[in-house]
Amino acid sequence: MQSALPAGQSAKEAATASTRDGFTTRLGVIAATLGSAVGLGNIWKFPFMTGENGGAAFVVVYILATLFVGLPVMISEHVIGRRARTDAIGSLRKLAPRTPWWLVGAAGVAAAFLIMAFYTEVAGWVFAYIVKAIVSLFQGAAGELASTDPAATSQVFGNLAANPWLSLILQWVVLAWVAAIILAGVSKGIERMTKRLLPLLFVLLVIVGIRSLTLPGAGEGLRFLFQPDFSAITGAAVLAALGLAFFKLSVGMGTMITYGSYFREDQNIPATGARVMLADLAVSMLAGIAIFPAVFAFGFAPEAGPSLLFITIPAVFSSMPLGAFFMVLFFILTAVAATGAMISLAEVPVAFLNERLGWSRRNATLVTVLLLAIVGSSAALSQGVLAEFKLFGMTMFDLFDFSTSNILLPVGGFFILLFVGWRWAYPELKQALSNDGALQNERTIRFFWTVTKFVSPVLVFVVLLDGLGLLSKILALFGGGA
Ligand code: PHE
Repeated sequence: MQSALPAGQSAKEAATASTRDGFTTRLGVIAATLGSAVGLGNIWKFPFMTGENGGAAFVVVYILATLFVGLPVMISEHVIGRRARTDAIGSLRKLAPRTPWWLVGAAGVAAAFLIMAFYTEVAGWVFAYIVKAIVSLFQGAAGELASTDPAATSQVFGNLAANPWLSLILQWVVLAWVAAIILAGVSKGIERMTKRLLPLLFVLLVIVGIRSLTLPGAGEGLRFLFQPDFSAITGAAVLAALGLAFFKLSVGMGTMITYGSYFREDQNIPATGARVMLADLAVSMLAGIAIFPAVFAFGFAPEAGPSLLFITIPAVFSSMPLGAFFMVLFFILTAVAATGAMISLAEVPVAFLNERLGWSRRNATLVTVLLLAIVGSSAALSQGVLAEFKLFGMTMFDLFDFSTSNILLPVGGFFILLFVGWRWAYPELKQALSNDGALQNERTIRFFWTVTKFVSPVLVFVVLLDGLGLLSKILALFGGGA
């Protein structure tokens, strides 16, 4: 039988283990994990992808992917992290010494960089919209964002995204902000902040949702979101839904391994995962309800792409009493949600440089942020001066987004599932997930194990091949045709 834990820890590892920072309370663990999951993925990416991919059918596929793939990967990552108690690469090295499994962690570090490269740009737009919303608050009806006309609101966003210096500066501001929080320490900074502010975001989304729903002509938006038409679903759309499920739950790249390493020993890992998954889904659905009825009521195009949030949301607020005030609040809370996610992203390379290479947290953070500014600039400029610079037919922004969600995360998730499902022996998994027998959750563990072993990896494999257009080629090779 293989052993998940090496017999002896090295002195260095034992020393780091005793001085490691970690989450302090069980609620804090949930807050931080949820803080990583909830972010621009819910408020920006989920709605715009749903719009691009035809609505409800995409949402159904996305929910299935979350249940059968996203959640199992999340539980797997948490249990790996807590067992090994170190960074993503180190965890796999520790649990599977002298094997290539650590490469999964290394791919995760790469993915973290690529995601941050475009994520910080979108966060930069959110920051800019906070300022725009405040200015509009004082200018009343004359304000830049005080319009329900699609042409006017699209123009405002277009001007912002196409401005090269402003785009770069916004990205740097976001990076500096993330660095400042990481330097202040995770448990005291972000854990506390997300615990207080995420519920507020939830309440605000409910308010915006109600306004959106009560607009004349809102019904069509609801039908778009809830009445599936599966005829429009292609292999590429299914892969996009799977990729979104990974991205949403921050899994497939070691973020949750890193966070799992900060978990308490008495944390109920499967229950934590299920709660985070449900809460995250609820936020996405609320964002969809806030956006789609308004899209149809005002005559916006649901397939507007990444700009959807920035052109419809101001229009919804502009059509409600005290809208300008709520709009300021909305963008501030979106920035908070994005911050929780970015910290967890940056934490992957920072923890690696800090724990594997022994750098101080300060140096690790500075180097990470500098590298991000370099890699990220190509994404920041891709709506303006670099708009024509394309690889594989995509701008850098789209390429980073596509290659992470649709390739790196599913591939990483696939191997994480194999690691827990096939490399670990069942008794060991049971011990880890039942907190050494303290929890009476054997049936949950069995169910999780079966899904992780036989269902999720197969789904990921097939969807990945099909979505990349490889499945039909392979079938043809075997004479099956497709
Ligand atoms: N889950 C975050 C969101 O939806 C994004 C993220 C992806 C964070 C991967 C960490 C790791 O916004």
